[in-house]
Amino acid sequence: MSKSFYITTPIYYVNDVPHIGHAYTTIAADVMARYKKICGEKVFFLTGTDEHGQKIERTAKQSGKKPIELADEVVVRFKDLWKVLNICNDDFIRTTEQRHKKAVNEIFKTIHGKGDIYLGEYEGWYDVRDEAYITDSQYEEFMELSQSKRPIIERVKEKSYFFKLSEYQQKLLDYYKNNPDFIKPENRRNEVISFVEGGLRDLSISRTSFSWGIPIESDDEHVIYVWFDALTNYLTALGYPDNKKMVGEYWPADFHFVGKDILRFHAVYWPAFLMSAGLQLPKTVFAHGWWTIEGEKMSKSLGNVIDPYKIAEEFGVDVFRYFLLREIPFGQDGDFSRDSLIGRINGDLANGLGNLVSRTLGMVEKYFDGLIPAAAQVETIDDKVVNKAADTATQYMNFMEEVSFSKALFSIWEFIALLNKYIDDTAPWSLSKKGETGRLGTILYNCCESIRVISILIYPFMPSTASDILQKIGCDMSVEDNGIGEAKKWGVLSAQSKVVKGANLFQKI
Ligand code: ME8
Repeated sequence: MSKSFYITTPIYYVNDVPHIGHAYTTIAADVMARYKKICGEKVFFLTGTDEHGQKIERTAKQSGKKPIELADEVVVRFKDLWKVLNICNDDFIRTTEQRHKKAVNEIFKTIHGKGDIYLGEYEGWYDVRDEAYITDSQYEEFMELSQSKRPIIERVKEKSYFFKLSEYQQKLLDYYKNNPDFIKPENRRNEVISFVEGGLRDLSISRTSFSWGIPIESDDEHVIYVWFDALTNYLTALGYPDNKKMVGEYWPADFHFVGKDILRFHAVYWPAFLMSAGLQLPKTVFAHGWWTIEGEKMSKSLGNVIDPYKIAEEFGVDVFRYFLLREIPFGQDGDFSRDSLIGRINGDLANGLGNLVSRTLGMVEKYFDGLIPAAAQVETIDDKVVNKAADTATQYMNFMEEVSFSKALFSIWEFIALLNKYIDDTAPWSLSKKGETGRLGTILYNCCESIRVISILIYPFMPSTASDILQKIGCDMSVEDNGIGEAKKWGVLSAQSKVVKGANLFQKI
């Protein structure tokens, strides 16, 4: 039986339309999901929208809408974008769905039954933008920021149910210690550990001063705190609590991919709720870094918010997917600029991969009427190519397993560079002039076969480009159906199959 693999993105707030940050996490999760699928694993890939809470209620009110009307409008934008970006999610969860209300109340009841929830009163600060409770000392720090950078923090005093988070401090610390892969990357793990070592206060998990949320069944004066509600989505989508089969098969999740902004909710609150409910903890919470735009923080007021639809339309979906995962190591912060995007398109894509494919297929058309020649006369220089193909596939898989997307791509591009050099060094054009057809055929066969291997390896990142290339080289396999194993084989392309050079894969800018 194949191994099951469960990966999630954050569920995004519907107070605003999707931007490059949302696209980034979702594309990264899509790459991992596609990779695991071609490794033969049974993948469940979840994304969705976070639709409750004070922030959504207020945004809706400001535009004269009901919260659900706002959510219904914005959710379409997210779903559309995922189609455009070729995201292969298996489910899309909205927290306003009935299935979710049920799961949230079930987990609340379970934790309550455990004795970890009590009724009290919350008096303190609340950050509406982040939907987060703020301590007095955090409040003091925020007040030192300039007016424009300061989040809106409000004083709240209301009846509330509390979760006994303070009792989970040591349990969490022990868990982090015994499960070094639980929080990644390492520097983020250390931040979480020191945060928890600093002490945990009980957490208010219900609100009574507004109503846009999931009412607690046993006390419907309260709606559940939006983060308690949102985190539960990862279980709802598996059919928790009724669908024991799905939960058994996919829980605990293999990865929650999140931005570093919401790591604390995923690595402190969520595992504590799960421990209390007697459920297993996700295997890894991976917190990636933050994109700035041309060196600046992305913000509506600066007017520099990057619209993923526009970038995909202008430059192409696969180009955008490639750029995001190649440009910065997953886990680190990075900067988006048109210059760096164009640099990658002209360099890595057009001059690198595009050129390799077009010159190889151009020569097969010119010298062999478009029919792939047989590898007839092998020399030592060819071994380098054959060995590099196998090494690249192995290295790539190791990097993918450790979520090093940029390194995985880099290893493919090293192979591409070696192939472009192989062509320059062996100069097929002069072999043709000299009539050395045996050598000429061997070199072009090796290039075509290498291109086949490359198209499989790029598939998770650039699914359409991968299938375009396979078509061009006359290989009627699909990466989805045949799997990553094909990248480790050599000699799969049959001589005499027809190639079609066609248009260039990437246009230089
Ligand atoms: O926080 N760079 O939703 P959200 C990189 N609903 N990633 C970015 C980014 C940037 N500049 N801006 C946003 C929420 N992101 C909650 C989540 S989960 C149970 C609930 C990405 O709409 C990144 O993944 O504010 C970040 O964590 C997420 O969008 C926040 O999305």
